[in-house]
Amino acid sequence: MKISPVRSLNGSVNLPPDKSIAHRSAMFAALSSETSTIENYSNAADPQSTLSCLKQLGVEIEQSGTTVKVKGVGRNGFKKPTAPIDCGNSGTTMRLLSGIIAGAGIEATLFGDDSLSGRPMKRIMNPLKEMGATFTAREENYPPFTIHANTGLKAIAYDLPVASAQVKSCVLLAGLFADGVTEVIERISTRDHTERLLNLPKTTKDDGVVVLSSNRDVEIPAQNYSVPGDFSAATFWMVAGSIVPDSHIVIPNVGMNHSRTAALYILKRMGADIQITKERIVGGGEPVADLEVRFSGLKATKIELHEVPNCIDELPILSVAMSFAEGVSSFAGAEELRFKECDRIMAVSQLLKKAGVSFTEQQDGLTITGNPSFVAKSATYETWHDHRIAMSAAIMSLKAESQSEIIHADAASVSYPGFYKDLEALNN
Ligand code: S3P
Repeated sequence: MKISPVRSLNGSVNLPPDKSIAHRSAMFAALSSETSTIENYSNAADPQSTLSCLKQLGVEIEQSGTTVKVKGVGRNGFKKPTAPIDCGNSGTTMRLLSGIIAGAGIEATLFGDDSLSGRPMKRIMNPLKEMGATFTAREENYPPFTIHANTGLKAIAYDLPVASAQVKSCVLLAGLFADGVTEVIERISTRDHTERLLNLPKTTKDDGVVVLSSNRDVEIPAQNYSVPGDFSAATFWMVAGSIVPDSHIVIPNVGMNHSRTAALYILKRMGADIQITKERIVGGGEPVADLEVRFSGLKATKIELHEVPNCIDELPILSVAMSFAEGVSSFAGAEELRFKECDRIMAVSQLLKKAGVSFTEQQDGLTITGNPSFVAKSATYETWHDHRIAMSAAIMSLKAESQSEIIHADAASVSYPGFYKDLEALNN
């Protein structure tokens, strides 16, 4: 994909539906015992992986356009798959589904693409083993792995060792099947879609520690879900509109769940001109708003440790924003980025290096010296087949001296199949 620098970006974008909510709505609909409808389900590769995995587990699913009907099978209706389950590139599919499969007590082998095959699974196997599940895994940590049949899990109290919504959700989902009350103790808050959509009991202690619980009695009703536009995808346009002069980008229907929106407030703190209008709640109980972004000069910021889990997926594109912000910006405490679809600290460092940005790399973060009049070098960017790196490179290329090239740019379709089309339409 070749991307040329642009003078301005104007118009409205069609955000893809939120990936995190799409995965969950499909899985929770499968767990109920009646039929649920999901409006605005994503055609991106990751959420489609969840649908095909659920079908392999015996769930009937019909998709027409972006509407999906899921005939729930209830907690006891999942079938042993007849072949290994392909989770594609999707860590959320693999980690959340493992909780359901272990809970259901059926045997299944899960695998993924090269990227997913390199991602750690001990983080979910450890708590599931404590609950009584058994596994055979490559190097005891990596896909492919087999979850063996079991005759029932027992509840545990699990103090999350990593701030991860996927691990939290996996344990809570297994807890829906276990004997007793499963508790998950969360010291640093992460996205809360699972507990919100399942309406799970939650207590917040004086020190801010959250205790979530699940058990066999939690009712999972059939619902009419409506998936909001993906906040993480919207961030690419928030940054593009802020750094490209004379821009005005309208972003309708953006998911505004408070556990996802740190990047918006970080950008506002940097001086971004982003208006929030028409705040509302959609099916399933998730908040949504329309956003409008106008060009404005940015200034440097330091992302605080507690903000990191809330903007973990946005750190690559925030690094691009920091390159155009006056002064020294930084983030730390983000070593988790090294275990995403690729090692994103390495990948962003390579991106910044090729663009000619002044920065230093740490094990758990980056320090970036930015400048509003910075002009990126024209470069050939690697993406490591990572959708967020591909889109970050594309936004960097908009502010380059001349045309840049992105290798494996199609990785964007894992979360945002229409990204390059939207970009072209804004550059009119
Ligand atoms: C996700 C949680 C995050 C995030 C991922 C989606 C989810 O991962 O990076 O893109 O939907 O629960 P971790 O839980 O591993 O931090």
